Amino acid sequence: MGLVAGELVSSLLGLWLLLCSWGCLGSAELRAPPDKIAIIGAGIGGTSAAYYLRQKFGKDVKIDLFERGEVGGRLATMTVRGQEYEAGGSVIHPLNLHMKRFVKDLGLSTIQSSGGLMGVYNGETLVFEESSWFIVNMIKLIWQYGFQSLRMHMWVEDILDKFMRIYRYQSHDYAFSSVEKLLHSLGGDEFLGMLNRTLLETLQKAGFSEKFLNEIVAPVMRVNYGQSMNINGFVGAVSLSGADSGLWAVEGGNKLVCSGLLQASKSNLISGSVMYIEEKTRTKHTGNPTKMYEVIYQIGSETRSDFYDIVLVATPLNRKMSNITFLNFDPPIEEFHQYYQHIVTTLIKGQLNSTLFSSRALDKFDLSTILTTDNSDLFINSIGIVSSVTEKDNPQPLTDRGYVWKIFSQEILTKEQILKLFLSYDYAVKQPWLAYPHYKPPEKCPSIILHDRLYYLNGIECAASAMEMSAIAAHNAALLAYHRWNGHTDMIDQEDLYEKLKTEL
Ligand SMILES: Cc1cc2nc3c(=O)[nH]c(=O)nc-3n(C[C@H](O)[C@H](O)[C@H](O)COP(=O)(O)OP(=O)(O)OC[C@H]3O[C@@H](n4cnc5c(N)ncnc54)[C@H](O)[C@@H]3O)c2cc1C
Ligand SMILES: *[C@@H]1O[C@H](CO)[C@@H](O)[C@H](O)[C@H]1NC(C)=O
Ligand SMILES: *[C@@H]1O[C@H](CO)[C@@H](O)[C@H](O)[C@H]1NC(C)=O
Ligand SMILES: *[C@@H]1O[C@H](CO)[C@@H](O)[C@H](O)[C@H]1NC(C)=O
Repeated sequence: MGLVAGELVSSLLGLWLLLCSWGCLGSAELRAPPDKIAIIGAGIGGTSAAYYLRQKFGKDVKIDLFERGEVGGRLATMTVRGQEYEAGGSVIHPLNLHMKRFVKDLGLSTIQSSGGLMGVYNGETLVFEESSWFIVNMIKLIWQYGFQSLRMHMWVEDILDKFMRIYRYQSHDYAFSSVEKLLHSLGGDEFLGMLNRTLLETLQKAGFSEKFLNEIVAPVMRVNYGQSMNINGFVGAVSLSGADSGLWAVEGGNKLVCSGLLQASKSNLISGSVMYIEEKTRTKHTGNPTKMYEVIYQIGSETRSDFYDIVLVATPLNRKMSNITFLNFDPPIEEFHQYYQHIVTTLIKGQLNSTLFSSRALDKFDLSTILTTDNSDLFINSIGIVSSVTEKDNPQPLTDRGYVWKIFSQEILTKEQILKLFLSYDYAVKQPWLAYPHYKPPEKCPSIILHDRLYYLNGIECAASAMEMSAIAAHNAALLAYHRWNGHTDMIDQEDLYEKLKTEL
């Protein structure tokens, strides 16, 4: 009896194994891929999401990418005398590995950001001035601020070091269901705590002097995020890492990464504006009633709609920037009301009146970037010479006299203000932005999962807004969508990943 039962079991097992060798092992794990995915927004977030989704779901899924403006979004160029210059996101850190990878995979080239000398203006005088002699800079920094700049560098390095863990997690396909969980997996409570406190509090507690904070740190925050040291500590660290060496940009413009990813992902670009998203039950070709999302959009004055299995929103969700309404969700999808900082980029070709900043003779003035302190009362955040997106060498004065200067300001510059800065100028273009969140710790990050198969990428900007952050959010959202589609819960929100992956080699 026992023997017969045992034989039966073993022969059933044999049959199962035989059948399974025909491929049921694979399909037991994987459900059929979705038919259609929509991504809203063709900035670096949306286009890299398309790229990663294609990698995960394979060639058969149809990916539609909606864009109401230009592909690239906040990566865009402006033209001065036939040359293009970065108007939005401009520099990339040497350790931004996703951006680096895209450039390599797409066969694009890079340009090293030219150094040039930097000075800091406080409304009356230059409180700090770099010298072209490295050793002189070191002595100046130590003379003025003790060893604070070295300590600052180490503080940023330590955060960057932990931050880099994300690449390991993502290369092993791990995903996170919230921005907080993602950050916690990288730097534990220390990282989450950084979102709760201002950079000023954090650095004061770490013992940095008022002088160093006001004359070096605050000006870096102003040029990178148009805000004071009251931003959260995490974005503060990201901003300070922008003072590292080795920064680069994409030859031809950073936006080329977006159009490249769009093409490489074989997605379908729909030049329209999404207005509404609503969940509806549809009968698919398989005959089964299936829950899908209806995306209602406008092309010109015409309203159209399409149905999708999965939707990714890759643009900040607020009335001013995306104006998307989620219809009839229960519970309703929260409106985030994230307030974005207004920043104006102005490019001017002309001759700077350097006596505004320094009593030195015009021809002795050799600074190419001037940052400002918070109390400078000046109408600009920063001003600096820029190279065009094709210039490999240091910026050259254009044919006649004058470099192209890039100015960041809170408001659009008036003609009087421009004339105050320049002895003469012959060209000016401006681009106003809702640039990045207005940071106000404690930050509460928006959800990534808005609904069952509806995901939001730009919540990550609550921690820090940067190209690489959008790419990381895109990779995460693609992995999350894939694992949730296939029920791979073990790949989501794993704790102690760092320890786990350390031993698993
Ligand atoms: C002036 C400035 C300087 C910066 N400097 C740097 C820098 O040096 N380094 C760095 O790493 N980062 C920098 N950043 C930040 C960086 O540019 C952004 O974090 C990043 O580009 C955001 O990309 P995204 O794809 O998430 O969003 P976006 O680029 O904003 O893309 C969203 C897209 O969605 C589209 N869209 C919105 N609503 C709809 C709708 N309803 N229907 C269809 N389409 C819609 C928009 O038109 C847009 O193209 C800077 C930003 C600015 C503005
Ligand atoms: C951050 O503040 C929030 C409240 O805003 C709190 O719930 C959370 O526990 C805090 N986190 C840390 C790590 O301090
Ligand atoms: C948002 O879209 C609605 C239509 O859906 C429109 O009536 C409204 O004016 C838009 N708001 C903004 C700020 O663009
Ligand atoms: C340059 O700026 C200084 C200081 O603001 C001002 O006194 C001077 O008149 C300016 N020069 C010209 C030519 O506008």
